[in-house]
Amino acid sequence: EKGTYPHYMLKEIDEQPLVMRKIIQNYQDDQGNLTIDQEIIDAMNDADRIYIIAAGTSYHAGLVGKQFIEKMAKIPVEVHISSEFGYNLPLLPEKPLFIFISQSGETADSRAVLVKVKEMGYKAITITNVLGSTLSREADYTLLLHAGPEIAVASTKAYTAQLAVLVILAEVTAKSRGMKLGLDLVHELGIIANAMEVLCNEKEELESIAREFLTVTRNAFFIGRGLDFYVGLEGALKLKEISYIQAEGFAGGELKHGTIALIEEGTPVIALATQESVNLGIRGNVQEVAARGAYACIISMKGLEAEGDTFVLPEVHELLTPLISVIPLQLISYYAALHRDCDVDKPRNLAKSVTVE
Ligand code: M6R
Repeated sequence: EKGTYPHYMLKEIDEQPLVMRKIIQNYQDDQGNLTIDQEIIDAMNDADRIYIIAAGTSYHAGLVGKQFIEKMAKIPVEVHISSEFGYNLPLLPEKPLFIFISQSGETADSRAVLVKVKEMGYKAITITNVLGSTLSREADYTLLLHAGPEIAVASTKAYTAQLAVLVILAEVTAKSRGMKLGLDLVHELGIIANAMEVLCNEKEELESIAREFLTVTRNAFFIGRGLDFYVGLEGALKLKEISYIQAEGFAGGELKHGTIALIEEGTPVIALATQESVNLGIRGNVQEVAARGAYACIISMKGLEAEGDTFVLPEVHELLTPLISVIPLQLISYYAALHRDCDVDKPRNLAKSVTVE
């Protein structure tokens, strides 16, 4: 039930700190260490390459998940869009492991791939919010999101839950391989939950950013480098599906290879700057677009902020920034849709689960 909330989307955005704490609890053993079924960890360790298969927001979570698994557990990962994978099968190694990410567990495009890889005799894990869903039943193993029902068409809490489960999977796998990570993930995820709470209390500011940048525009761009690029893709999807503003996410460095031609006087460009190693690079990109008339909205992280930034995120572990940087983008999209009188929870032409290929 929506309770006092005007929309499910807003309620689900606000539930994210709670979901984060629930995930930590559900994946903790009696000693407080993160844990995952040994069979799943064995499957991870047996694999010579991991294939993440998903659609929409879940695909965007997969892009971030690849970084978690490669950086922490040192297993190579490829991320594929479900609807492309079936007829565009890459050359597979000897022992691939498939991870399907699906909030609903019912996405037909993803299921088609699952059926195919099972026929080929490969192992599959499904990361889903729905126990007993088709993708959960048909895979060898399931990891649950524990996010509670997600009703709004625009996925919000499922995305951050997917990231949390992926990083836990990466950590537990890494530890099983004897790797020293130099990071206490339970502690860091606790910091994430607190930061999420702070952000959910900054609605007024984010509403006024949405009003300032997105009330009248036809289009908007999201730019970032590294992890910020992937979050930008998710921000653009959120904005386009509920506000009908034509929105695209780009890698900052790719702008000058074409997209910058679209920048006109007043075009909103939302730039994410949460990664120290590329901070100078993304700020250079902001200058390039601003010099061509773009109206730049810079979302940075504490410690990396510069004068004139539009919004500053609380400081969290650099690898985990996508778990919080997406929240202002979710809220900005929500308010942009609201200001434009759109049906936030049920955008046109879209269904919550896409059960046809
Ligand atoms: O249930 P799934 O995670 O498999 O759904 C995948 C996409 O259909 C879904 O993420 C879609 O892109 C959302 N509307 C995004 O907000």
